[in-house]
Amino acid sequence: MENQLLVIFGASGDLTKRKLMPALFELYRQHHLPTQFAILGIGRTAFSSESFRDNMKSAIQASVSPEDQVAGEIDQFAGLLHYLSIETSQPDDYILVRDKVMELDAGNKTDGNYLFYLATPPDLSGIIANNLSLQKLSQQGPGWRRIIVEKPFGFNLKTAKQLNQQLLQCFTEEQIYRIDHYLGKETVQNVMVTRFSNGIFEPLWNRNYVHHVEITSAESIGVENRGGYYDKSGALRDMVQNHLLQLVSFMAMEPPTRIQSDAIRNETLKVLQSIRPIDRKDLESQVIRGQYTGSTIKGVKYAAYREEQGVSAESRTETYVALKLYIDNWRWGGVPFYIRTGKRLPTRVTELVVHFKPTPHRLFCFDEDRFNSDNQLVIRIQPDEGILLKFGVKIPGAGFNVRDVNMDFHYAELKGERIPEAYQRLLLDCMQGDSTLFTRGDAIHQSWSIVDPILSVWEDNPAFPMYGYPAGTWGPQQADSLIDDPAMTWRYPCKNLTDDGVFCEL
Ligand code: BG6
Repeated sequence: MENQLLVIFGASGDLTKRKLMPALFELYRQHHLPTQFAILGIGRTAFSSESFRDNMKSAIQASVSPEDQVAGEIDQFAGLLHYLSIETSQPDDYILVRDKVMELDAGNKTDGNYLFYLATPPDLSGIIANNLSLQKLSQQGPGWRRIIVEKPFGFNLKTAKQLNQQLLQCFTEEQIYRIDHYLGKETVQNVMVTRFSNGIFEPLWNRNYVHHVEITSAESIGVENRGGYYDKSGALRDMVQNHLLQLVSFMAMEPPTRIQSDAIRNETLKVLQSIRPIDRKDLESQVIRGQYTGSTIKGVKYAAYREEQGVSAESRTETYVALKLYIDNWRWGGVPFYIRTGKRLPTRVTELVVHFKPTPHRLFCFDEDRFNSDNQLVIRIQPDEGILLKFGVKIPGAGFNVRDVNMDFHYAELKGERIPEAYQRLLLDCMQGDSTLFTRGDAIHQSWSIVDPILSVWEDNPAFPMYGYPAGTWGPQQADSLIDDPAMTWRYPCKNLTDDGVFCEL
């Protein structure tokens, strides 16, 4: 890999500590970093390089289990770190940035290749890009320049377009890497591999055989200490506009012509372009929003969303949203895609479920337990990553009674293989100039144009129903009404891939 200097803006922030440093350290100890490499952290906090290193060392220590720690390794890695304190919105301070970058580049022989990572609040992205450009730090040659931009990418379609415009005035599209960390998840990438490396699934992957598709991304945590941000955002912006629509794209895309960035991104974009906009009159029947209320789970009291720090006591921000979407194209015409996400649900789980159509004629008696009486292929993104196929078998003995059984694969069974953290993969890809797993500007616009009309109806009609659901439950009951077939319900996944149902270990 080419030698390079990584410059992180927002280096004193939470993301750097929790995600970036542990990911970089992993890359370091797996010998994936370039031979000549240095990291410059930039932030408002007045650290010296020494105190920044100490701070990052404790963050890394906390992320690595004691038995995995090799003496001296974290200290050696910390030797790559440097720090510069600036006022990020002050143009003059970027002279300091330029000088420091030049100094580190010369001292570490990083060949003039600079990667800028904006781990900063979204309103700073345009400002930083502009100031880098004023100091000629965005201009390529000699050496390349790349910029990674974190989500949220804009607040709605209009602001996302403005941000893209601002970035494109300073960097070219090829230099811009917009992160959606779901794309860095091994199991999300595996959706493409499952579909396009096996002959058995793809022939069934269409409107002729698929009854509906269900996508769930549930979290058991609440808004933690992010109430201030979340209350202005909500589940639709925070999870659907980016992560869930990416999952829909991977599930629904056509095979790319080759495994190459634009070939793949063209196909995922086409899915987003084919999602039918939800008509205003259908909004109440196709979109259900909810907000968690206080409850007591196993003797522990959980606060209502409106009682969380940083959240307005009259907030109408959704912590849960479920939608019914249609993809108007040849493959998926008429097949509903049900997607839902929420905080303070019973367990943390993300999974994609393909429900296949039943047989054309029902010959056998089904066991009462046969949930939904259909074949299901469950692709588990997290936790207990794996794939599960549910199908019917004969119950031994007299007659021809059928019950459901599971055929399952768990990543944990792949001995000697560890699933890397999403940030590890994404950082490495960007360092190598591979943008396949990053979102292109046109896809960002497209996904905003799907959620924007919903957001505006909510904004214009504060009375639009907002259903409460007690913390620790599967969201508002009204979400069940989204599913067309009254005999069917959402899957109620558990901690373990093979379990489901309302009663299971969470
Ligand atoms: C982030 C959201 O993008 O994704 C968070 O801002 C959410 O609210 C997180 O908790 C979920 O990510 P993961 O990887 O834990 O599923």
